[in-house]
Amino acid sequence: MRMTSPQIMAAMIACALSIPATCNAQADAAKIFNANCSLCHSSNGSGDTPTGKALHAKDLRSDEVQKEEDAALNAAITKGKGKMPAFGAKLKADDVTKLVAYIRQLQKQK
Ligand code: HEC
Repeated sequence: MRMTSPQIMAAMIACALSIPATCNAQADAAKIFNANCSLCHSSNGSGDTPTGKALHAKDLRSDEVQKEEDAALNAAITKGKGKMPAFGAKLKADDVTKLVAYIRQLQKQK
């Protein structure tokens, strides 16, 4: 795993500007995202990877994804959707919640 990805850097910067709890949650989420999701979604959420393109992974920063409720994104990650695998057995519910918040952050960094 690359520890110097832009997302982790961004999380560290956000860290300096915000309360420690938020900072840890974001750094955690970036690590979880890069380890489990970036294969298809790319570390910036664009989906611009060979696997992402082959499976038609959505750009997580797009309006189409961002307009969905947190609960819908949470369900897609937990139960899977279309060709997206389910992560409910692999990730803690708490981590899925962090990932949803992280996906909201990715859009702001676009
Ligand atoms: C094997 C490739 C793959 C991996 C790994 C993967 N995804 Fe996806 N993801 C997809 C595909 C393909 C879609 C589009 C699903 C559809 O709508 O048919 C998708 C869609 C999504 C959506 C949008 C769902 C919606 O309701 O529009 C979210 C959010 C998402 N993925 C988050 C994640 C997160 C977080 C992880 C890591 C825990 C992850 N994905 C890992 C392939 C992947």
